[in-house]
Amino acid sequence: MEPLLTNTHKLKTFVIDEGHGVKGLSDLKINTLPELFIQPLEKRFDMSKVLSEELIPIIDMSNSEDPEVMKLICDAAENHGFFQVVNHGIPLSMMEDVKDSAHKFFGLSVEEKTKYLFKDGTTKNVEYLRSFTPEVDKVLDWKDHLGCAYVSDDEAIEFWPHVCRYQLLEYMNKSESLIKRLLSVLIKRLGIPKLDKTNQQLFMGLRRITLNYYPICPQPELATGVGSHSDFSTVTVLLQDEVGGLYVRKFETDNWIHVPPIKGSLTVNVGDALQIMSNGRYKSVEHRVVANGHNDRISVPIFVNPSLSEVIGPLPQVIKRGEKALYKQVLYSDYVNHFFSKAYNGKDAIDFAKGI
Ligand code: OGA
Ligand code: NI
Repeated sequence: MEPLLTNTHKLKTFVIDEGHGVKGLSDLKINTLPELFIQPLEKRFDMSKVLSEELIPIIDMSNSEDPEVMKLICDAAENHGFFQVVNHGIPLSMMEDVKDSAHKFFGLSVEEKTKYLFKDGTTKNVEYLRSFTPEVDKVLDWKDHLGCAYVSDDEAIEFWPHVCRYQLLEYMNKSESLIKRLLSVLIKRLGIPKLDKTNQQLFMGLRRITLNYYPICPQPELATGVGSHSDFSTVTVLLQDEVGGLYVRKFETDNWIHVPPIKGSLTVNVGDALQIMSNGRYKSVEHRVVANGHNDRISVPIFVNPSLSEVIGPLPQVIKRGEKALYKQVLYSDYVNHFFSKAYNGKDAIDFAKGI
């Protein structure tokens, strides 16, 4: 075998530092999965744990002011942590454009893509292939990604990659009303009458759109697309293509539910920040993506986060009702830094906010 594929250090340099990504490896059409991507047994996905008859709730958002629909949304966030929405107001063509532009980005030459490489904050708002400490990066997921933080339309147009900036920006702006509707409904059940200027920074001050690309993988059963994790967001709104492969843990069980690609749908999930702020009422549930031996896959999550300077903790409106606080108050940037400082392992990160 060529030294590149057997030398873990060289391989990591090739994939991350030189910006070839996992796509660069997939393009070599190798038959054997390099060791750098071989997951230990306990992290591989046991397909026998999949509940093939079950679905996460599918909610029609046409009448999102309808108390029945509001109840469905809050119940789904409490009981499943995940749901799909249809008739959410974002045109199908806009969603198709986003996926096409994601393919365009990952199809760029390595020289073009490396302009956006994550290097300790040197690239403005944009990061392609963030690398972590060696401890975190011991085994890599079979995935490339580009993250774009939204600051303003002007910054997006200036700094986001040319091949996708308008498509992502248009989608980001169009999704704002869906995000606000979802958050308004969810916080109402927590005793907060409305989403407004006084609390927007707390619930949605920082939005980030990410392009995930999962190239065809040799020996997919040994790898992960993304290993089991929860998101550190308030909520995440995810667009996926028709390939499938996202699995969600059935709350408090060892079983998993597939999130089937439904044309025009978006998948919504509760993140750690909302679990903490709701004092555990809404559940930030683990999810994972399998690697695929036959198809490339694209997904595009929008992570709706608190501003980094916000302090998050169980909301006073929740505690006032007599609940004991399950989490302490933490600076959100500390939470995020903690999240990235360790190899993710299911829901371990949330322990950082525990212990009062
Ligand atoms: C994520 C994630 C799921 C997917 O990016 O946090 O969970 O389907 N993605 O790609
Ligand atoms: Ni996720």
